[in-house]
Amino acid sequence: MRIFRTIDEYKRFLAELPASRTVGFVPTMGYLHAGHLSLVERAKRENDVVVMSVFVNPLQFGPNEDFERYPRDEARDLALMESAGVDAAFLPGVRDMYPNGAVKTTVRVAGVTERLCGASRPGHFDGVATVVSKLFHIVEPTRAYFGLKDAQQVAVIETMVADLNMNVTVVPCPTLREPDGLAMSSRNVYLTPEQRERATVLYASLQAIDGWRRANPDVTAAELEAKLAEAIRRTPGAELDYAQVMTYPALEPIEGPVRRAGRFIAALAVKFGGTRLIDNRLFEGEDTAT
Ligand code: PAF
Repeated sequence: MRIFRTIDEYKRFLAELPASRTVGFVPTMGYLHAGHLSLVERAKRENDVVVMSVFVNPLQFGPNEDFERYPRDEARDLALMESAGVDAAFLPGVRDMYPNGAVKTTVRVAGVTERLCGASRPGHFDGVATVVSKLFHIVEPTRAYFGLKDAQQVAVIETMVADLNMNVTVVPCPTLREPDGLAMSSRNVYLTPEQRERATVLYASLQAIDGWRRANPDVTAAELEAKLAEAIRRTPGAELDYAQVMTYPALEPIEGPVRRAGRFIAALAVKFGGTRLIDNRLFEGEDTAT
């Protein structure tokens, strides 16, 4: 595995590759888990070269968020990348990505960024769209792989790629889960053992509403949202940020029974102490899509 710490070094590597090669790209903020490695596996199957980046992007964290304490372990990440078969690890520094301290150009995607995490974390998706746009220009991928745990992020990036005619195919990939259903996330490490146990309520409640909507064909988005919110309220130590059911990927409100909405998402954000967890399920009319 080759390791690149600057944009220039990576660009020299890219210039040496045959022009016909395909590049699969997995952008991350590190502290890798099996979810990230499943993206590498898929990228390896579909491309000649696999590039993984690790960059904790300050631009996508709010002033009171966890940028400083976000978990980092470069040695462990590199070992995992190597064993997963990554060809090139791209680990740029903040000064290389943002040489003047910040950027004067920001990529802002309207609409899909306004609800869910966009409402709770102002500016977050501007930071994501800007850094992913920069990474696409640097890495020049054929395909880029993103986990659907961050389904809104996938919708934002797909919109950006389409609107700006970026020459990359976005590949959304299924959420990987712990055996008890908790979605894998680098932030799970923040949870105390008690919070970790209680955090299973996110997936359990998303599963429960699946059964409920099947038993109640005319169920509405508001009714499903109320069920999710109630499950969180009943969980000690859990504080609801949002429980929303909307169309996907447009993320618009659903009028009338959800079964008529086509593809839709049920999405949750829940705080346990200072740790904010998100999860979601996608549904396709009467049938579950993921
Ligand atoms: O999903 C993430 O880890 C980040 O938002 C990403 C896409 C790497 C951009 O910093």
